[in-house]
Amino acid sequence: MGLNIFRKKTYVPENKLSKDIKALELVLMGVGAIIGAGIFVITGMASATMAGPGIVLSFILGAVSLGISALAYAELGSSIPISGSAYSYTYSFLGEIVAWLVGWNLVLEYGISTAAVAVGWSSYFRSFLKNTFNIVVPQALSGAFDMHKGTYIDIYASLIIIIMFGILLLGIKESAFVSSAIVIIKILVLVIFIVFAIPHINISNYKEFLPFGIAGVWHATGLIVFAYLGFDAVSTVAEEVKYPQRDLPIGLIGSLSLSTIFYIIVSLTLTGVVNYKELNVPDALSFAMEKLHMYTISNIISIGAVITITSVIMVMGLGFTRIIYALSRDGLFFESFSQLHPVFNTPYKSTILGGILLSLAAGFFPLKDLAQLVNIGTLFAYFMVGISVILLRKNPNYKPKFRMPFAKILLPINLVTLLLIISGLPMLTWIRFLIWCIIGLLIYIFYGYKNSKLQKE
Ligand code: ALA
Repeated sequence: MGLNIFRKKTYVPENKLSKDIKALELVLMGVGAIIGAGIFVITGMASATMAGPGIVLSFILGAVSLGISALAYAELGSSIPISGSAYSYTYSFLGEIVAWLVGWNLVLEYGISTAAVAVGWSSYFRSFLKNTFNIVVPQALSGAFDMHKGTYIDIYASLIIIIMFGILLLGIKESAFVSSAIVIIKILVLVIFIVFAIPHINISNYKEFLPFGIAGVWHATGLIVFAYLGFDAVSTVAEEVKYPQRDLPIGLIGSLSLSTIFYIIVSLTLTGVVNYKELNVPDALSFAMEKLHMYTISNIISIGAVITITSVIMVMGLGFTRIIYALSRDGLFFESFSQLHPVFNTPYKSTILGGILLSLAAGFFPLKDLAQLVNIGTLFAYFMVGISVILLRKNPNYKPKFRMPFAKILLPINLVTLLLIISGLPMLTWIRFLIWCIIGLLIYIFYGYKNSKLQKE
C-alpha cells in the first residue's frame, strides 16, 4: 500500500439543516466576529510603535489582500455542499496533509486569538473599573509576564477565558437576538467615537505621517490584519444559506467592507486627535476621549468595548472547540476529543483543555506576540485557500455556483500581498509558527495518517 498523504475527502450534504439564513444576517454575523480587540486595542499600539498615522495605509493593504481571500472563500463555499472552512475546502481539493496543516493552523488561529482578544478585553475592563468604581488592580496582576515592568500576570484576561470556556462547556450560546444587539452596540460605539472625536482633529498630528517609513507600514500590517480576522465565520454556515451563490459573497465582502470603512475612519481619527507617540496604551480609544476631557464618552467606549469584545471571545472560543472536534472526528487528531459530554452535549475535553491552556496564554503573553502568531497561521490558511482556487479552476469538473470576478488578476495579487504581509512579521513569530507546524507534522506522521477515517475506509 503506497503512502497516500494527498487523499481527498468527498463531502456529502447532510440536508439536516434548514436553509433560512439571508444575506443581511450573514453580514451581521461577519461583523460580529470581525470587529473586536483589533480596532479597539491594536490600532493604537501599532501606530505608536510601528506606523504612525500611516497605520491607515496598513488597514488599506490588509483590506485589499484579505478582501480577495474573502472572495476566494465565497467561491469555495459555493462549490462544496457543506458548511465549511479552509480545513474542509483543502481536504476536498488539495488532500489530507495540506488539510491537516491548515486545520492545525486554524486551531492556532482560533485558540490564540481567543487568548489575544481576552488580553484586549482586560485592558478596557481595567479602564472601566478605574473610571467607574476607582478600582485599580495591583501592578503585578495587570499585564503579561515582564519583570522590568513589574507585571507577572494579566489576571482579568486569564479569568475571562475561564468564565467564557465554562459557558461554552455548558453549551450556552448567544441567542440570535443577543448577537444582533452586540453588533449594533459595536457599531454604535465606533460611531460615537468618530462623531465626538472628528471635530477635535488637529492636522499637525499628521505632519509626521510616516515616522517609521514604508517599512513601518509593512510591519504594522502584519499586526493589524488581526482586526480583519473572523470573516470566515460566515462560510461556516454556508449549508444553511438559501442562495449561497448570491448571499455568501454578499455576507463575506459586505462584513469585511463595512469593517474596513470603520477601521479607516477610526484609525485616521485616532491619530488625528492624539499624537501617535502617545498611543502606546492598551485602551487607545477611551484614552483619546480622556485626553479630550470627554470622560463620560470615554467610559461609554470602555463599556461598549468590554461588551463587544466579550462576544468575540465567545465566537473565537467556540471556533476553537469546533475545529478540534472536526479534526478528531475525521481521525486526524486524538479521538477522545470528539466525545461529547453526556449532559451538556458539548466537546468537553477540548473545551476544558482549551480553557486551561488559553487562560495561561492570555495571562502570561502580551497581546502583540499573540496576535502576530495568530496572523501568521491564519494568513497561511488563506494562502492555501487562494492556491486551491487557482488549482481548481484547471479542473473541468469544478463548478462553483459563484465564481470570483477577475480571478486571473486578483488571485496573484492576493498571494503576493499575503506573502508580503507574512514576511514582515518578526523572526520570533516565524520560529513559533515553524515549531507549531513541526508539532503538527509529527502528530500527523505518528497519529493522523494511521487513524484517519479515510485510511479506515
Ligand atoms: N478580528 C477580531 C478582533 O479584532 C479577531 O478582535
